[in-house]
Amino acid sequence: MKIRKAVFPVAGLGTRVLPATKAMPKEMLTIVDRPLIQYVVDEAREAGIEHFVLVTGRNKGVIEDHFDCMYELDATLAARGKKAEQEILARDQPEAGAMSFTRQQAPLGLGHAVWCARDIVGDEPFAVLLPDELVLNTPGCLKQMIEAAARLGDKSNLIAVEGVPEHLAHQYGICGVGKRHGSNMFEVDGMVEKPPKGTAPSNLSITGRYILQPEIFKILETQERGAGGEIQLTDAMIGLAKTQRFYGLEFAGERHDCGSRAGFLRANIAYGMARADLRDGLRAEMKRYLEK
Ligand code: G1P
Repeated sequence: MKIRKAVFPVAGLGTRVLPATKAMPKEMLTIVDRPLIQYVVDEAREAGIEHFVLVTGRNKGVIEDHFDCMYELDATLAARGKKAEQEILARDQPEAGAMSFTRQQAPLGLGHAVWCARDIVGDEPFAVLLPDELVLNTPGCLKQMIEAAARLGDKSNLIAVEGVPEHLAHQYGICGVGKRHGSNMFEVDGMVEKPPKGTAPSNLSITGRYILQPEIFKILETQERGAGGEIQLTDAMIGLAKTQRFYGLEFAGERHDCGSRAGFLRANIAYGMARADLRDGLRAEMKRYLEK
């Protein structure tokens, strides 16, 4: 069944990068010249997603504005003959009616945020993308996942995974590895959210991309709080894995955790270097700076 809808949990407070996120949503932090949220929406669009469900919170209104038409800006650009800028804005804007917003009223965790999207998603498989994780690659991570999911049976779930150094495993959801399917896919054999140091079943971390079956919502409805006192998506997936298959995909591409200061800075350099119009200038600036 075609994956038509994607959920973007954007209600988080961004406490890892304060004070940048005191008054501004972390999803609006810019990598080069575009906000984080635009990169993940584009990744979903490239993968064939038709409807984008943003689970927002208070003080996140600017995210909605970003995806709206800015009439005065557009009119001014037109009057000044700035066609290239107009085209960039038009390209980034979703089709009318293709985006929904719902609010998570309290910060109860990722699982709760996804559950808030249940009525908009309805009874069909869907994708989840966490906007503070970017994957630099063509094709994008979600496109790779949707192509891989098409080879799996009905009622299969798929998560994107990446190896992390052992000493960092406690910061992530980690999955165990069962039977392998080809070079980059495997059956997930157990999952654990933020395992205490030294107890992780593997070094494969759950990155911020999921393809899930709608039965996850029923489980989330009664999911109890887990790691960090939050309602965890990983715990609901453990529940769903009792009746449905979960697969892990080791995707191609460079993952950037933009929710941390170092990851955010690195992403800016990586995405800048990936841009033909900026690469040479940026390289020269960095070289000059490093030689200081
Ligand atoms: C969430 C998930 C975790 C995953 C991580 C990836 O954790 O719960 O399983 O590994 O995203 O970024 P969070 O970063 O919200 O604590």
